[in-house]
Order: sequence, then C-alpha cells, then structure tokens
Amino acid sequence: MTILVTGGAGFIGSNFVLDWLAQSDEPVVNLDKLTYAGNRENLADLEGDPRHRFVQGDIGDTALVQRLLAQHRPRAVLNFAAESHVDRSIHGPEDFIQTNVVGTFRLLQAVRAYWSELPDSDKTAFRFLHVSTDEVYGSLGPTDPAFTEAHRYEPNSPYSASKAASDHLVRAWHHTYGLPTLTTNCSNNYGPYHFPEKLIPLTIVNALAGQPLPVYGDGQQVRDWLYVRDHCAAIRRVLQAGQPGHTYNIGGLSERTNLDVVRQICALLDELAPAPQRRVAHARTGQSITNYAELITFVADRPGHDRRYAMDIRKIQRELGWQPAETFDSGLRKTVQWYLDHPQWVQRVQSGAYREWIARHYG
Ligand code: NAD
Ligand code: DAU
Repeated sequence: MTILVTGGAGFIGSNFVLDWLAQSDEPVVNLDKLTYAGNRENLADLEGDPRHRFVQGDIGDTALVQRLLAQHRPRAVLNFAAESHVDRSIHGPEDFIQTNVVGTFRLLQAVRAYWSELPDSDKTAFRFLHVSTDEVYGSLGPTDPAFTEAHRYEPNSPYSASKAASDHLVRAWHHTYGLPTLTTNCSNNYGPYHFPEKLIPLTIVNALAGQPLPVYGDGQQVRDWLYVRDHCAAIRRVLQAGQPGHTYNIGGLSERTNLDVVRQICALLDELAPAPQRRVAHARTGQSITNYAELITFVADRPGHDRRYAMDIRKIQRELGWQPAETFDSGLRKTVQWYLDHPQWVQRVQSGAYREWIARHYG
C-alpha cells in the first residue's frame, strides 16, 4: 500500500510526511513542484529512506500524474499542493488560479481515470483527500458563532476564492462521478518549517534580527491557531475513518488577536533568547533593544482583510474522536524553540527571492 501526497515539501505537507513515516511504514510518493515555498531540506531526515519517493513536478502535469498513479498504484491521494499566501495572492493572483483551481481540476481528472479502473474492492477503499482552509467561509463578526461545515462559502481574497473553487470541484467530482473524496477545512497552522512570510515565523525571525515586527491595521484581527502536528493527526484520522463526500472542520480552539500573538512571541523570546544577551539592535535605528516588543510596528492593513475566523470542530470531535493535543501556549513555545534551534534553516530560506518579497511587500 502506498499514498501519494502532493505539496509534501511545503510547511504542512512536509510535517505530514515526516509524521506519517514516523508512525507507519506505508510508503509515500511525494509530488511537489518546489516553488519558493517548497523546500527539500524540510525532508532531510528522510534522505535515503526507501519509504519516501520524492518527485519534483506539477499537479497540473497530467502525464506525470498519470505515470505516478500507474507506477505506484496508491490507495489514497492527499492534496496539500497550493499557493498558500494571501498577501501574494493580492499582488499576483494568476499562480493561485493556475495551481489551486486548474491544478486541482487536472489532478482530480487524472485520479478519477485511475480510480475508475481499479478493481471493485480497491475502488471502494480509495480516497482523495483535499486539504483546504477556513478562509473559504469568509469573515466573522466579534460575537458570531464559529464556522460549521454548513456555513455558506463567502471567500474574500483571491487565495480563498481559489481554494473555494477547488473545494467545489472536489465536491462535484464526488457527487457526479462518485470519486470517494474527503475535504478538510482547517484554521491557521503554526510550527516547525513554517515559511517566514507568514505572521508567526516572520515575527520570530524578524525579532531575532532586530527588524520591525509588522502588524497590519489595528492588529485586532482574530485567527484560530492550530499546531501543525495536530493538523497532521486530524488528516490521518479523516483519511482513516472520514465518510466519503464529507467535509470536516479542523481548528485549535485558540482564538487570538494578531497583536496578542506577536506580543506573546516577544515575551517568549525575552525569556528564551533575551535581546540584551544577543546584543540585538533595532535594524533601522541601530539602538540596542531590551525587549522584543519594542520592534512592533503598525503598518498599512491588508486589502479586504478578514476580521475573524473561528472553527466549530464538533463534527470531527464527535464522529472521529479527534481534538487538538497542544494548547496555543505549549505549541507556540515549541515553535519559538524550534526556530532558535534551526538558525541555518532560517538563513537558507531567506534567499534572494525571499528578500525580494519582503522588500516588495513591506517597502
Ligand atoms: P506552503 O505554501 O508552505 O506549501 C505548498 C507546497 O505546495 C510547496 O511545497 C509548493 O512547492 C507546492 N506546490 C505549489 N504549487 C504546486 C503545484 N502546482 N504542483 C505541485 N506542488 C506545488 O503551504 P502550506 O501552508 O503547507 O499549506 C498546505 C495546504 O494546506 C494548502 O492547500 C493550504 O491551502 C492548506 N492550508 C494551510 C493552512 C496554513 O495555515 N498554512 C491552513 C489551512 C489550510
Ligand atoms: O486560516 C487559514 C489560512 O491561514 C491558510 O489557509 C493560509 O494558507 C495561511 O497562509 C493562513 O492565512 P492568513 O492570512 O491568516 O495567515 P498570515 O500568517 O499571512 O496572517 C495571519 C494574520 O496576521 C492575518 O490577519 C494577517 C496578519 N499579518 C500577517 C503578516 C504576514 C500581519 O499583521 N502582519 C504580517 O506581516
């Protein structure tokens, strides 16, 4: 038995592959295009491991996907591959449509052709699991109840619109063709291997470098944070016992304002890597800093910025018995410690392309 994972060199995909092979000997074929967000270094621990087969390629490359399916005959395909950064989708939506919509469509077509030729028992057992986001549901007011699986789709950014479109394709491929699909809609993840364009890793790496910690608008937007390994466990559980055609909300039950998140990271760094001991100076002024919170800088808001996300996870709790193991406090501490322990990983991902993005986006 084998599974095919797409996007397995990205943040969540690489955590998933590492966790999967830590708990099972079932081989993984890992198809990843290695965009700026894909990083083979995340998978360095699997170097030479015969259970992991890495293939650089595009989910939209039908001939390649067909070849991989025919060659490895997976019992499941898990689709993590996507363009995932909201701010990049605002600067340039084209790649998001190409990968998240057209790519998912082509992947579904190739998988359907493979699945339809399987013997009956394999056909029944086969699963296509699509990894999606809470952002498809739009934005909540401060006292609105959390999103359930029945919430209307109201995507507001080019990213969330492209993910919503992909979710609809997956739904239709189940409804029309009977493909045994599962869709997971998850809240904001954080943890090891998170690319430092996203709020939590950006705050950690900027703070350690004495760079400003950019907070959009008033910093009162709310996200529901989930430690990435809890997300991986939820996906494994949905794959194992989820009902074909169903969607499952996944979340951390940890709503926080962005400003609180940034302040909590600063407090953890003050404890674990005090700025005076590291001689951190403000990169703009050259002045030594005593607390990392001195670097907090309010900047222009994200256009169309969703105010609040929150997930109602009662379905996955009730039906599949999953719930987050980490609290935000325990998960954030582990995450900050991971970045402190991996300065070379951070240095290497901050390539020329990364610096260009930071300069372009933050000015
Ligand atoms: P990421 O940007 O870190 O990684 C995406 C990976 O997909 C990269 O390795 C990239 O090289 C690969 N990729 C991109 N285009 C591809 C293509 N055309 N063909 C093959 N591979 C391609 O993203 P992530 O944060 O790990 O997110 C993974 C999935 O989870 C995405 O579908 C995202 O929408 C979803 N999701 C993310 C979060 C989050 O907080 N990060 C929360 C909920 C859902
Ligand atoms: O909710 C799930 C989604 O979470 C995933 O589907 C996306 O792939 C993932 O990128 C993430 O999207 P967000 O836009 O919520 O994540 P990001 O880390 O970019 O931003 C988190 C919040 O912090 C958001 O309200 C914007 C704000 N922010 C972000 C950055 C990068 C800032 O205030 N300053 C920043 O510099």
